[in-house]
Amino acid sequence: MSERLEDIAVKMVAGARGLLAADESTATIKKRFDTIDLVSTEESRRDYRELLFRTDDAMKKYISGVILYEETLFQKAADGTPFVDIIRAAGSIPGIKVDTGAKPMTYFPGETITEGLDGLRERLAKYYEAGARFAKWRGVIAISDKLPTYGSIKANAHALARYAALCQEAKIVPIVEPEVLMDGEPGTHDIARSEDVTRFVLQTVFQELAEQRIQLEGMILKPSMVIDGKKARKASVEEVAERTVKVLRQTVPSAVPGIAFLSGGQSNEEATAHLSAINTGFSLPWHVTFSYGRALQDMAIKAWGGKKENVAAGQRAFAHRAEMNHLAAKGSWKKELEKAA
Ligand code: 13P
Repeated sequence: MSERLEDIAVKMVAGARGLLAADESTATIKKRFDTIDLVSTEESRRDYRELLFRTDDAMKKYISGVILYEETLFQKAADGTPFVDIIRAAGSIPGIKVDTGAKPMTYFPGETITEGLDGLRERLAKYYEAGARFAKWRGVIAISDKLPTYGSIKANAHALARYAALCQEAKIVPIVEPEVLMDGEPGTHDIARSEDVTRFVLQTVFQELAEQRIQLEGMILKPSMVIDGKKARKASVEEVAERTVKVLRQTVPSAVPGIAFLSGGQSNEEATAHLSAINTGFSLPWHVTFSYGRALQDMAIKAWGGKKENVAAGQRAFAHRAEMNHLAAKGSWKKELEKAA
């Protein structure tokens, strides 16, 4: 029996559980492994992802779904168990990154267009067969004095909507991810500019989603928070939360079941503090949770260091961040809880 899109979407965001974004491309995971002087091979990538997916207690309690890279969707743990089975056994849903990356956009210097639409219908059928029940596509919007341009926002929003339609046709819930970069170049914009750009981007995205007849009940939005550039961080936790909530209320229809933020280069604790503030004191029409990559994994990679004897330490680090973000999704995270670990 095929599940309904809206039921899968709710499962992805309900109960203050969130998504583990473990869909680093081969090039990106290499950068992460470089920080611990580990060579990226099919085996080291497998060992690392196995560490995460076998953090059983955290996976069961705090993680609703895992975004995988194609290699991992079809990969097996060291003992031969498919990763998809391990994820499902923990009560979590396997998902898949389906875009093929943000490429330089012709005639738009400094901006990118995300690729991957050609052949997507056929790939989605294969991913569904392999167990994926949701997908992710990331459009990237850079901020500078002159950027973003309308042309780039429009093209990326259009691609997001075309991707979302193909996903829904394939009974796969699309995560629609328009990321407004905080850590791009020059990274010196203030939070007011982030607010304006994020508002316009989300308006454009939802306009495209409407024009392409996307069923809002069967999708998840993965936005960036409204936050100042990485080289100009000044805004308080409260200000980030207030401006983020304001923009989301102005642009995201309440028919969308859930919003799952990306961390985008925020520190681990910032990403958690902001999510908790967003979930405190506002009455919101959506489930609001996390879909973090770096903010869930940085500590785990460091604690593991690529060494067998450190697997348990890596798992403890991952479990801790997952628990903190679960509390943040309930609005009940406190700074003191970080010290306890
Ligand atoms: P970060 O949380 O590290 O930004 O990654 C989330 C993600 O999936 C980006 O596409």
